[in-house]
Amino acid sequence: MTPPATRREARAAHLLATAPVPVRHARARRAARIRVGFAAVAAAALGIGGAAAITAAVIAPELSASAGLVAEATPTASPVPLPQAVSELPAPKVEAAAAIADLCADPAFVAALESGDDEATLAAAGGAEPFRAAVASGTAECVSLADPARLWVVVNKARASDPIDYRPGGLAAPAGVRDIAGGSLRGEAAGALADMIAAARAAGAGEIALESGFRSYATQQSTYGRQVSSRGAAGADLVSARPGYSEHQTGLAADVTACTYGCDDMGTFGGTAQQEWVAAHSWEFGWIVRYVEGRTEITGYSPEPWHLRYIGPELASVYHEGGWQSLEEFFGLPAAPDYGD
Ligand code: DAL
Ligand code: ZN
Repeated sequence: MTPPATRREARAAHLLATAPVPVRHARARRAARIRVGFAAVAAAALGIGGAAAITAAVIAPELSASAGLVAEATPTASPVPLPQAVSELPAPKVEAAAAIADLCADPAFVAALESGDDEATLAAAGGAEPFRAAVASGTAECVSLADPARLWVVVNKARASDPIDYRPGGLAAPAGVRDIAGGSLRGEAAGALADMIAAARAAGAGEIALESGFRSYATQQSTYGRQVSSRGAAGADLVSARPGYSEHQTGLAADVTACTYGCDDMGTFGGTAQQEWVAAHSWEFGWIVRYVEGRTEITGYSPEPWHLRYIGPELASVYHEGGWQSLEEFFGLPAAPDYGD
């Protein structure tokens, strides 16, 4: 697997190399903002200038356009007096501005999105971070976080599976993975789980098994029902999704557990060497720990260090590097602590 940082740097270098020249009419200016924005994000990712570079890059074309002037740097030792219009201008108002691309106005992005290829879609956005930023800003209306076929689908207590009895195609058992309850996952998630578990073993972290992968609507009905019987509805809602509201129904969620000779119940996964390794490295394989300490008010669930969600290596890398703690915050969605009934 190509290290994510290398790919991002290559993309950033390409974007910097295609930074625009000053432009004056509105349509060209908008296109320039998108490209300058990408270059600024790329510069920040490379540690070139950071937020100040983003701000200057985004604001400068607007200042020059509103003043009716060509955007040129003013030489400090120029013998020519500044034009009156410039000398009377107030000092530029420097403010934080996010470099958000208007992805849905980009035909290449829309074509990639409509092709159904998640990786190509992220590449057409300029990478996973520009994609995330555009979605979180609310400007990327052509991107649906409800489409269960996409790696960026978000299912929570406020966002049921659509359709409610959705069942993914292409389910597969992860090769070479100890399986406790007949677990299967969507193909790409199955491969990524097998790779992750092999890497954990090779690193000396111990054995990890798949306790539960895809669960159908009907299976979730009985899973949730069992929890209600033992804990009551309020207690069950903290540990189990109601049918139609579980990430397991997407085929992109895996409950894992630690094994020595036998395998322990996943409820004891926290604090094991396997759990520590998973918390530190699962993102490298496209997984995130979905329900963590301190986010119950957002996700609606108690911490579950064993519940992993596959979002693909590009998005998982951005999630890890950004220190994100919930998919809701990652994509700018409202908290979903309950079902609203
Ligand atoms: N235990 C998680 C929340 C589920 O049931 O999907
Ligand atoms: Zn789970």
